[in-house]
Amino acid sequence: MAYENIIVETHDKVGLIRLNRPKALNALNSALLAELAEALEAFDKDTSIGAIVLTGSEKAFAAGADIKEMQTLEFADAYLGDYFSEWERVTRLRKPLIAAVSGYALGGGCELAMMCDFIIAADSAKFGQPEITLGVMPGMGGSQRLTRFIGKSKSMDMCLTGRMMDATEAERSGLVSRVVPASELIDEAMKAAGKIASFSLPVVMMTKETINRAYETTLAEGLRFERRVFHSMFALEDQREGMNAFAEKRAPGFKNR
Ligand code: CAA
Repeated sequence: MAYENIIVETHDKVGLIRLNRPKALNALNSALLAELAEALEAFDKDTSIGAIVLTGSEKAFAAGADIKEMQTLEFADAYLGDYFSEWERVTRLRKPLIAAVSGYALGGGCELAMMCDFIIAADSAKFGQPEITLGVMPGMGGSQRLTRFIGKSKSMDMCLTGRMMDATEAERSGLVSRVVPASELIDEAMKAAGKIASFSLPVVMMTKETINRAYETTLAEGLRFERRVFHSMFALEDQREGMNAFAEKRAPGFKNR
């Protein structure tokens, strides 16, 4: 399919998607969502892909949901259509998705980055939930995910004042996993994704699934889940291969079996 709002590339075992609405600073509209979800789901199904990187432009990862699309939205239509619920498709991917954020990640842009499994930020990145300045509040997960990631006090500060957080503060607060010079952002993200894609795909997917459990269940249940999944890994040839390779002082050759 030819995309108009995103650019899709494949580099070895890594899928790369660039948001591409430069004139609107990658504002997230329905057309972009449809394309993004389709491209992500295609990578998720593609057995030759081991990890995915999602990025924007140097100036903006995404400056939010498309305000012009929402400007005249009526309550009944928002409610009946369950506006924004389709974005949950991004969170249903089973393979790792890394957000590489440069410039603005505001409103829905910040929320989209938080739907990814981790965020690598350029030193130019600016995160914010400025919805309050528009007479609304976050609607794509910001009030929940941001609060889980950076805690109540900072989340209240961000969502109630609408202020932006720079990359240093974002790393200090646990929102992003690392900060790199803007010129190295894509390389760093692709390197991280390439590393992930070099490991056993079922083990990578089970690790992602298990970490995500930490956000959805109690510690005791999460630990039980972790142990069961860990036990199941001994049914994989890749467990034997990984441990044999270590003992034999050679590189493993994982087969995703
Ligand atoms: N929706 C629609 N269009 C947007 C947009 C958005 N979220 N953000 C930027 N644009 C458009 C601008 O309207 C402008 O278009 P025109 O040239 O046609 O006027 C173009 O992108 C460039 O933007 P600016 O001229 O404003 O660029 P700037 O460099 O002066 O400012 C900015 C950059 C500070 C990011 C500013 O664009 C801005 O404040 N954008 C809105 C940020 C925002 O409020 N985001 C939250 C949206 S609501 C939301 O996301 C709800 C939710 O919870 C999901």
